[in-house]
Amino acid sequence: MLEIKTIRELRSALKEERARGKKIGFVPTMGYMHEGHLALMREANRLADVVVVSIFVNPTQFGPNEDLGKYPRDIEGDRDKAAGVGVDFLFVPAVKEMYSEGYSTYVEVTGEMTHVLCGRSRPGHFKGVTTVVAKLLNIVEPDIALFGNKDWQQLAVIKRMVRDLNMDVEIIGVPTVRENGGLAMSSRNTYLSLEERKAALVLSKALRLAQDMVRTGKTNAGEIAAELKETIENEGLIEVEYLEVCDPESLSPVETIEANTLIAVAARVGKARLIDNALIVPES
Ligand code: PAJ
Repeated sequence: MLEIKTIRELRSALKEERARGKKIGFVPTMGYMHEGHLALMREANRLADVVVVSIFVNPTQFGPNEDLGKYPRDIEGDRDKAAGVGVDFLFVPAVKEMYSEGYSTYVEVTGEMTHVLCGRSRPGHFKGVTTVVAKLLNIVEPDIALFGNKDWQQLAVIKRMVRDLNMDVEIIGVPTVRENGGLAMSSRNTYLSLEERKAALVLSKALRLAQDMVRTGKTNAGEIAAELKETIENEGLIEVEYLEVCDPESLSPVETIEANTLIAVAARVGKARLIDNALIVPES
């Protein structure tokens, strides 16, 4: 595995790979890798010849009161993990390599899909995500880029951007990797105490409950959402920020679960803000 810090060097290395006819797979991350990140890299390895992973804690996607300064980092651990799953190029740019002096250009998906769910409490977050992902896709020019279903809204917004800007890349969603017990893996789980980690299990439990409710014939989104919120908040230690039933592509709210539907939840547990979701596929 080759570790690269500059855009110029990465471009020249990838130009050679492309000239050899290699298919390039790309996994952007903010590091502090866990099995969720590694699942994306393994899938990239399966689908492409050359795997590029970036580690960049992107300042433009953090709000002024968010955890940019405290975001966990472990570059040595990340290096070992990435090498262990067959990553070929690890791109680790400095902030000033990505945002040089006078930086003034942003890519924004406008409208409802970036203002609902996480967009409501994190204004500007998705603008930061689409800006950095657009830049990274321009630098790497991959054939495929892989993102986790865990951040469903992020994945939907990136798909929208790629379609709208005619970017020549296939965006692939990868299923959420969970701890034993169901907690969705996240770099931010490191903020949880043992007790909070136990309490956080109720998020995935509530999403499983939703699947059961739909399976047994319940279709009223409002009723399902209310029951899930109650289940979560009865746990204590957890404060639900949102729990919404929506269309998986447009993220618009739905009232009745008839077609494939996304249930998305965000909650505060101690110092951590956790998100999770489930795609409900009603039996026809
Ligand atoms: P980060 O949170 O490091 O996540 C990197 C990728 O790993 C994202 O596509 C995310 O959805 C995926 N991922 C995280 N936890 C996962 C899990 N439990 N199972 C499967 N996939 C998981 O998301 C970001 O970084 C940034 O916003 C980024 C896209 C890199 C732009 O800065």
